[in-house]
Amino acid sequence: MHRITLHRPDDWHLHLRDGAMLRAVLPESARHFARAIVMPNLVPPVVTLADAMAYRQRILANLPPGMSFEPLMTLYLTEGTDPSDVERAAASGLVKAVKLYPAGATTNSQSGVRNLDKVMPVLAAMARIGLPLCTHGEVTDPQVDIFDREAVFIDTVLDPLRRRLPELRVVMEHVTTEEGVAYAAEGGDRLAATITTHHLIINRNHILAGGIRPHYYCLPVAKREKHRLALRKAATSGSPRYFLGTDSAPHVDALKEQACGCAGCFTAPNTLSLLAHVFEEEEALDRLEGFVSRHGPAFYGLPANNGTIRLEKRAEPCVWPEKIASDAGPVTVFNPGFPVYWHVVT
Ligand code: NCD
Ligand code: ZN
Repeated sequence: MHRITLHRPDDWHLHLRDGAMLRAVLPESARHFARAIVMPNLVPPVVTLADAMAYRQRILANLPPGMSFEPLMTLYLTEGTDPSDVERAAASGLVKAVKLYPAGATTNSQSGVRNLDKVMPVLAAMARIGLPLCTHGEVTDPQVDIFDREAVFIDTVLDPLRRRLPELRVVMEHVTTEEGVAYAAEGGDRLAATITTHHLIINRNHILAGGIRPHYYCLPVAKREKHRLALRKAATSGSPRYFLGTDSAPHVDALKEQACGCAGCFTAPNTLSLLAHVFEEEEALDRLEGFVSRHGPAFYGLPANNGTIRLEKRAEPCVWPEKIASDAGPVTVFNPGFPVYWHVVT
């Protein structure tokens, strides 16, 4: 198989940022993706329906002429979030999910949730109206090793929450462990998991062995090899529980390459080519469309996209820029470390 045509894909977890960075990175996603669930972790965060409407307008205003792209907005859950604002946001049709960041878990999560009891009225309203909760599934307890934070979150936060509110629809975002994919597999149709491109490609050695490589550092941090293999198996299984959320998370190089560097891999420009490579390696090219174009819309209750995108395997490897320019500074594109021959041709 050297050519594939897919329904136009969507990205179910994307950081578009704001201002100069938004201007620079938006075309990189809009070129290939029809829609994306847009993360709300701006400074200050996108908390209310009014915030989300204003951010959505800024995104659309930065879309280059001739490109089409639908931002699916999310609200950043805080302990002050008003359940009736969330209900209005869902009713508007523009807000598709609410994002749970445990306070301190990742970039710009300081306004997140410390005590889940405080947000139970919001979560109960979401369960009632069917609005999904997207979770950054890591505990923040400094006693818990960073490589164990996802598994501990599932046992001590997510599973108890889902028992309390069985109607709540939950997306386990960017799962990185075999425990994560196993939990998602058993959760029924109210539970799904997104998987990033980079977690299918790198394990923790890529970050740490032979020198520290800040552009491979993201959160949740890549784990050991057995977890990468479990993610590959899940993503290529054909199960509708798993779909793509790139978590493409651009930071300017100056903020990545410093003594305390930011977390995030910028994968928007080359994600589709990389995924074709991975799915071919797993002998699952026929399942790529489900992962990138079908399972996500089905979970979110949306139609799949009408348009298509074509990929072609060529003799020459893809050439991507090492960095893209933004008015805030250069942003390094994720480098898989091997040649990739699957070109996006439309
Ligand atoms: C994200 C960011 O930079 O906003 N970083 C990351 O490593 N993925 C935050 C997040 O999704 O955790
Ligand atoms: Zn993210």
